Order: sequence, then C-alpha cells, then structure tokens
Amino acid sequence: MAKSPKRKTKANSKFSPSIQQPRRIAIAIMAAGKGTRLKSKHPKVLHEVGGKPILAHVIATAVKVVPPRDVFVIIGHEAERVRAAMAGTGVNFVLQAEQRGTGHALMVAREALSSSGNKYHQVIVLSGDAPLITAETIRKLSEFHHAQKAAMTLLSADLDSPYGYGRVIRKGPRGGAEVQAIVEEKSATPQQKKIREINSGFYAFDAPALYEHIDRLSTANAHGEYYLTDMAGVLHRAHKKVVAIKTDDAGEVLGSNTRAEMMMLDARMRLAKCRELLEAGVTIFYPHTCVIDSDVEVGADTVIEPFVQLLGKTKIGEDCRIRSYSVIGNSVLGDGVTVKPGTIMEDSRVGAGAVLGPYTHMRPGSEVGEGAHLGNFVETKKIKLGKGSKANHLSYLGDAEIGEGVNIGAGTITCNYDGVNKHKTVIEDGVFVGSDSTLVAPVKIGRGAYVAAASCITEDVPADALALGRARQSVKEGWARAKRENRR
Ligand code: UD1
Ligand code: CA
Repeated sequence: MAKSPKRKTKANSKFSPSIQQPRRIAIAIMAAGKGTRLKSKHPKVLHEVGGKPILAHVIATAVKVVPPRDVFVIIGHEAERVRAAMAGTGVNFVLQAEQRGTGHALMVAREALSSSGNKYHQVIVLSGDAPLITAETIRKLSEFHHAQKAAMTLLSADLDSPYGYGRVIRKGPRGGAEVQAIVEEKSATPQQKKIREINSGFYAFDAPALYEHIDRLSTANAHGEYYLTDMAGVLHRAHKKVVAIKTDDAGEVLGSNTRAEMMMLDARMRLAKCRELLEAGVTIFYPHTCVIDSDVEVGADTVIEPFVQLLGKTKIGEDCRIRSYSVIGNSVLGDGVTVKPGTIMEDSRVGAGAVLGPYTHMRPGSEVGEGAHLGNFVETKKIKLGKGSKANHLSYLGDAEIGEGVNIGAGTITCNYDGVNKHKTVIEDGVFVGSDSTLVAPVKIGRGAYVAAASCITEDVPADALALGRARQSVKEGWARAKRENRR
C-alpha cells in the first residue's frame, strides 16, 4: 500500500531508527560444560535448584526477553540428555561436541548467530549455570550496550569474596564505563586478585564485531581453553569499545560451580519464593523449614505450617491449611482444603473443602471431590471419590470410581490386582461399606446398597441391597470357662 507517503514521513520523524529497523537480538546460553567441580555423573546444568534444572531457570528468563526462536542453547557434555530435558521450550540447540572453553562455545555458534539467514545485531550471552539472573537485568544490559554503541558489554558485580571469578580491569579513572580486559583467577596477579569487581559471565556483544574478531582468541592460558573473557582484551586492542555495567543486586550473578554454591542458590531461590508468596497473602510459618518449588502457586489466606514441601507444578487454592510434614507434588487443591500432618500427595486433585490426613497417601491419579474426607493411613491410587464421600481410616482404594455421599468403613480394601491385571471397583452414590470389607474387582456396588462389615464381596451388589459375605458366627456357651477350669 504505497498510498500515504505523507503519513510515512511523519512516522519517520517520530520514531528512532532502531524502531524502523528493529534490532535483532539473540540470546546464547552456554551450557556445554561438564561441571567437573561437582564430581557428578549428571551434567551441571541439569542439577536442580528451586525444584527444577538450573538451565530451565535460565531458559525461562531468556524467553521473557526474546522469543524462543531467538534463543540458542549451546550444549555438549551429555548433550542429548540436556536437549531432551529442555525439549518443549521451543529454543534452538547448538552442539559444541568438544568443550574447549567459553570462547569456543561462541565460535561453534557462529553459524547459528551470524550466518546469512540469521543476521543478529546483538548477541546476549548467558551462563547456563547462573539461574538467578532476571529479565530486567538482561534488558538493562542490552539497552546499556546499545546506548554505549559498544562492541562488548559485560555485566559486572562487586563481590565481598570474588575468589574464583574473572576480575574486571577498568580503563582507568577517566575511562568511564570502559574496560581494558578481564583476567581469570588463575592468571591474576596478587594485585589483580584484590579487585572486587567481577565478571558475571553475562555479556552483550555486537554480533559482527564478535565474529570479526573471535578467531583472535588463543588457548595460551592456565586451562588451555578459549576464554570468552579474552574478547575484552582482543576488542580493546582492536580499538573497539568494551564497557561494563554493574548489577544493583550482586546476588543475581552467582554461579553454581560447586555443590556448596548450588545449595546457596537453592536457599536463595526458595526464600525468594516464600517472600513472593507472603507478599501475595499466604502465611508461611518458619519459611526456612519449607521447601517450595519455583512454579508452585498458592492462593491468599492459605496457611503453610513448618516443614511442608510443595513441589513441581502444585497449585493450592485460597483459605487452605497445609499442616506440617506434608509433601505435595504436582497436585491441584481447591479452596478451603485442610491437609493434616504427614499427608503425601502426587499428581492428584482435590475439591474445595476436602479434609485429608493425617498420614493419607494419595498416589497419582487420585481425584477427591468437594468436601470429601480421607483419613489416617488411607492409600489411594487412580480413584475418583465423589462429593462428600468419606474414607476415614486404614483403607486401600485403587482403580475405583466412588460416587457421592459414600461411606467407606475402616479397613476397607479394593482388591484391584489379580497378579496379572488391574480391575476396577465401582461404588455408586450413597453406598455404605462396613468396616474390614474386601471388594474383589471387577465388582460394582449399586446405589444406596449396604455391605456388611467384614464382607468379602466377589459379586456385584444390586442397588439398595444388603450384601453379607462372611461366615455366620457360632457361639459355644461356657467354652472359655471350661478351658480355664481344665487347666487348673
Ligand atoms: C566464567 C568466566 C569468569 C566469570 C564466571 C562467572 C570464562 C573463561 N570465565 O568462569 O570470568 O567470572 O564465569 O560465573 O569464561 N561452557 C560451555 N562450553 C565450554 C566451557 C563452558 O558451554 O567449553 C559453559 C558451562 O557449561 C557454563 C558456562 O559456560 O554454564 C561457564 O563456564 P564455567 O566453566 O562455569 O566458567 P567459570 O569458571 O565459572
Ligand atoms: Ca560457572
């Protein structure tokens, strides 16, 4: 539509050139390393903090800044495992078959980041082992880099104990934000080791400048690796602008090279999660005793007692009370649910107002209706329990469809397994199952029927019937007395 040249001119004068021709930004995440210092058979980036792999946190943050198609994860050590664990995120993967350093990781990504098909203006580099970085900080880094017209911008931080990190060598008092070089711990002079400003391992690069000069990196250093950090010196010597921007929150850049560092990240992340929930109206007593994963959601006015674990994608409604020692994984609870101490729940759903525990074990596929009760030592697996139904004591309910208003007596067992196959038990609305009954599946108890206590039910029970499945009691008068007297 070449219709309105007038409007076009107006727009041109109003918008900055970067908006006319959008800056194309890619994010590269370095995640190929082995993590030797962990002494683990699992790749470093798949170790979990805050309840999910470290790399999953970094990817989740990256895709808040650019769309997944512009995110490139560089994988190498156990590449297929890492790729499989991150499948479904929609990001790209670049294989660094041999891990020859962080500089080498970016060399390997050249094709992906600067081929004719993929011309990015800016490449933001994140470390796959530093999961606390926020989208806001990445955006600040990117904006600062752009405003400075720099070839390389590194995110730095002042740390009280900078040991192990690369140190930032500034250009001098009149250099402004400019940087001369980064020196790694192993190559630093005693004087340089005193520098508290560290390289966080997060960078923004001008993509053409990076790939024009990256081949100047060498392996002449303590580890015999291509250090991406050396790009600072390389670009500086080529009279390109290298600058640093300091984070406000040094905690954001912490990496996880050792188990001890990972533990610290995990603690930070979980405490931050608790703060976020407190902020949202959830009460958490002794938050440092609770383990709440990053993706968990909890409604306002819910109370979480000490030593509770809420894991995975668990979602808890409002006005619930989760009592101590309960472990709830990947489950959804409605409003006003009471979970008494020691309840364990996996992949289950619970309706509003239900009461569970103490010591209820809900295995995957348990669905509990509104206002239903499951009490002590009741184990469930793949069941539907209708509205207001109760199984309060010592039962196993597996592969069962239980209607509304059903009363399951103490010690009831659904015999769902014949040694080869699993079978289903159907208990219709309003049924009363007496204590210590065994229901041998496949079997159906019709609406409103009664099962007498201690029955073994092997055949269907029609609606409104009474089923007795036990031996008739016999009484021998005086038998006990006679036995006692004989003994004397
Ligand atoms: C790096 C920086 C250091 C900085 C620190 C911040 C270098 C040389 N040093 O050190 O200045 O202070 O991060 O945390 O970059 N990786 C690859 N391919 C490789 C090697 C590493 O993808 O060939 C990945 C790792 O999986 C990791 C990241 O790059 O996620 C950083 O590597 P790591 O070995 O942890 O570097 P640091 O020693 O922490
Ligand atoms: Ca690291």
